Amino acid sequence: MKLILLGAPGAGKGTQAEVIMDHLNIPAISTGNIIREALKNGTEVGLKAKSYMDAGKLVPDEVVIEIIKERLAKDDCKNGFILDGFPRTVPQAEALDAMGIAIDKVVDIEVADEKIAQRLGGRRVCSNCGASYHTEYKPSKVEGVCDKCGGPTVQRKDDEPATVLDRLKVYHEQTEPLKDYYAKKGILAVVYGAEEVSETSARTLKALEG
Ligand code: AP5
Repeated sequence: MKLILLGAPGAGKGTQAEVIMDHLNIPAISTGNIIREALKNGTEVGLKAKSYMDAGKLVPDEVVIEIIKERLAKDDCKNGFILDGFPRTVPQAEALDAMGIAIDKVVDIEVADEKIAQRLGGRRVCSNCGASYHTEYKPSKVEGVCDKCGGPTVQRKDDEPATVLDRLKVYHEQTEPLKDYYAKKGILAVVYGAEEVSETSARTLKALEG
């Protein structure tokens, strides 16, 4: 199955991508994670992306499209994949179409902006392995320490309140039109994502059946 997860920053795309990955045994591909990894490794892509990412802006289409082309060409994508955070603009969606990739389903996770601020304000990520936590909804066993690898958990720079507002603005202007793009293709499913993780997961998995 070839899936896209749509939704505002902090809607829970990454959280649900992990659930679907375990359920369907297909890889979850997060362009955000790939870019953060490139940044950590000091690659050219990482350096190009840094200023955009830190400011809550989108990295230029051509950079992200190249990243996705490379990633989808890998063997583990042959039986399907989950795209988390791509496409984010209409030109990115058109590029995916031009690659000849037939997407089976697009799940849009809907969460109101007010709730997003609370979610992202409490998110902590491991600076070593990238595991994600929330101070209230999913705390690590020891505060500030990753359960999986013992690395330090920190707040992402783009999760600071002022940047979250910018990311939401970018989402409404540039990414939200994709709902219409995929609704017209008849493959959009909308899932209400403001309740607890297990509830949203149940709704998401049900949406994949229909
Ligand atoms: P990216 O890393 O993709 O960030 P994002 O889309 O803004 O998404 P997030 O990771 O912030 O949120 P999420 O929806 O995955 O939520 P999560 O599950 O973590 O992109 C970062 C940047 O990279 C972009 O701003 C851009 O610069 C660049 N970029 C990436 N892709 C690009 C592209 N295609 N084009 C151009 N630029 C691109 O959940 C959030 C928190 O809430 C967590 O703490 C979680 O534990 C908690 N939580 C989740 N669900 C629930 C729930 N149901 N109840 C309570 N808490 C919950």
